[in-house]
Amino acid sequence: MSSPKRHECARTRARALTPHDSTPTSPGAPPTHVRAFAPGRVCLIGEHTDYNDGLALAMAIEQGVTVDAQRIEPERDGDGDARVLAQALDLDEHDEFALSDPQPAQGWRAFVRGMAAELQRSGLRPVSACLRIAGDLPHGSGLSSSAALEVALAMAQLALAGTGEEIGRTQLAELCSRVENEWVGAQTGLLDQLSSLYGQRDTALRIDFQTLTVDPVPLDLDGWRLVTLDSGEQHEHSSSGYNQRRAECARACELLGVSSLREADESRLAELPIPLRGRARHVLSDNARVDRAVVALRAGDLPALAELLDESHSSLRDDMELSTPTVEATVRRMLDAGAAGARLLGGGFGGSVLGLLGPGVPVPDGACEMHPCAGARVLER
Ligand code: GLA
Repeated sequence: MSSPKRHECARTRARALTPHDSTPTSPGAPPTHVRAFAPGRVCLIGEHTDYNDGLALAMAIEQGVTVDAQRIEPERDGDGDARVLAQALDLDEHDEFALSDPQPAQGWRAFVRGMAAELQRSGLRPVSACLRIAGDLPHGSGLSSSAALEVALAMAQLALAGTGEEIGRTQLAELCSRVENEWVGAQTGLLDQLSSLYGQRDTALRIDFQTLTVDPVPLDLDGWRLVTLDSGEQHEHSSSGYNQRRAECARACELLGVSSLREADESRLAELPIPLRGRARHVLSDNARVDRAVVALRAGDLPALAELLDESHSSLRDDMELSTPTVEATVRRMLDAGAAGARLLGGGFGGSVLGLLGPGVPVPDGACEMHPCAGARVLER
């Protein structure tokens, strides 16, 4: 914290994320201060299907990441380079880099630098800015803190640069996912970013990753409740078995001679060796469960949705081998507390468990009720 510019960013910290903090701008002038929010997500059914051109049924949630972005002058005492100062308020850490040359980094800095680089590569002209980042999504808990960070960073910087109209939401999801794939090292798909960007209140999203279409499905729980319970075991997709699962699915495609597992014929799965057979079977069965879940929701048949959660969990545990003893114990706790169905959430190898509670069943100790909420947005400019 030696540079005067860092102090400038640090001094604003006490004011960070208080309402009505925007600087007034003259009409037509680019904003000098914006704030963007991007939610995390809960996937109801359809895990590890996104990078297999499959289907998922997901929703954006209330919790997420907020990025408060303030335009700053390019470095005057240096070479005049446009630059980014960033603060992770929850971690009390900062970063600073020249926009012309963001170097790879670890942890949250990899997202910030990668986003600056990808926005530039896409011609979206990010400007010198101080970015203050805060959120209420626990990292590594399966609620998609990574995508929320990417999307909030992107929306704040686009709004500050005035280039938000130059990119559509689906393209923006793809840009965010490149940050995660190329700068963070997690070969994740588009589930989290599309859910965060397209979320709608009281609505689940049926996402088809082959066509990249997102269809709203009314989520009327009629007294039932969706809750998540953190197993306490953190995961990191760049170092867990996540990338290996993706590689296994790609290998299964090669052996079956199909371009994605969406195209795979169930009757040929027996040709695949173990464990690839299980991986492919999971993808096909979870795709089918997504459409069964849509039918159940449209019919108001919540017990059927609960059964699908249980089936999906068995498939994620046995065919995808994504569970851990701690996650299993958490699923058990959820079911013992009266959940009608429960399953591991997100990429696996730790994280949270999703449960569906019938009317009147109390929320288990330590669990949080999840509500389908609106997608990412610029809050102030
Ligand atoms: C993580 C990834 C997503 C998706 C899920 C599993 O959340 O970021 O792309 O693959 O795991 O469904």
